[in-house]
Amino acid sequence: MKEKKRILTGDRPTGKLHLGHYVGSLANRVRLQDEYECFFIIADLHTLTTRPEKEHVDALRQNVTDAVLDYLAAGIDPTKSVIYLQSAVPAVYEMNLFFEMLVTLPRLQRLPSIKDMARAANLSDETLPFGLVGYPVLQAADILMPRAHLVPVGKDNEAHVEVTREIARRFNYLYGEVLPVPEVMVGEVASLVGTDGQAKMSKSLGNAIFLSDDPKTVRTKVFGMYTDPNRIRADIPGRVEGNPVFIYHDTFNPNRAEVEDLKARYVVGKVGDVEVKEKLARALNAFLDPFRERRAQYESEKGLVERIIYEGTLRASKEGEETVSLMRKAMGLSGLWNRISRRAREAIAKDPQTAAEP
Ligand code: TRP
Repeated sequence: MKEKKRILTGDRPTGKLHLGHYVGSLANRVRLQDEYECFFIIADLHTLTTRPEKEHVDALRQNVTDAVLDYLAAGIDPTKSVIYLQSAVPAVYEMNLFFEMLVTLPRLQRLPSIKDMARAANLSDETLPFGLVGYPVLQAADILMPRAHLVPVGKDNEAHVEVTREIARRFNYLYGEVLPVPEVMVGEVASLVGTDGQAKMSKSLGNAIFLSDDPKTVRTKVFGMYTDPNRIRADIPGRVEGNPVFIYHDTFNPNRAEVEDLKARYVVGKVGDVEVKEKLARALNAFLDPFRERRAQYESEKGLVERIIYEGTLRASKEGEETVSLMRKAMGLSGLWNRISRRAREAIAKDPQTAAEP
């Protein structure tokens, strides 16, 4: 059997995921699971680049669990794919440091994505942390840690994969062919319109339908949706193009005949908003029902989600150890260095005082 190619992608854990995340990336990941060996990173360290404050660190615990449950509910299968916690993989820190030597500061500072993140976090040139400039370097460590071949990301992350490729090539040039130069795979689907008609569904804009919303919440959100503002009565012809209600129908309602019938009557003023929205609420809830079932399954066993993250992290860490060991060997940082660090670790483990620490 031919070995499957390896994928790495993931998210910063910033809270619950919504339909926009599903359309933009999760659906694609669920699809790729069979053809590729997938590693899905929960990039908690990356959240520290803009939010190092204690309150944000404290929120990570819940955010990590929420994100992983959303992955699982969406159909990412932990028996096929690896879901892991970035900060728990030692190799990431080590690779990050080696990679910091292989890219120039101006190369990173020129990236529009870094400027965008700095602006969004209200950071000036004077208050910009070193770590935020290094965001793409840390991301290169993520991608190259399991020696991934393919990186599915949104347009906003494309340049980071390019930096990763440069770092991999530079490493191979200096020390020998160790790292694969990964390909980027940019998603076709842009973003999903918000319930309020704004271009992008986003938690902070308050226009999101979450994967974890219950049927009643979905219904309420659908009935509050922005639609054709000129259509103040049901007998006035309405606009279908760009109308969020019909965009959602097109995206989530598998009953094509029903959607076409609603559209046909909408443009001639022969259907009320209530019927259009009622049918959308029903379609969305039918779409989310399998998510709800899987979520209930994963939640029914106490500690299951944590175990899934643990097992994925263990698996990822093993890959990372292998990569770092190959890198160190190529760099000529093994031999003496391994003996010394092994002896130091053993000495610490034997020391009753340090060993007794929890
Ligand atoms: N930068 C990604 C984001 O915008 C998160 C991320 C961190 C990532 N490491 C990665 C994505 C590695 C793909 C591959 O949230």
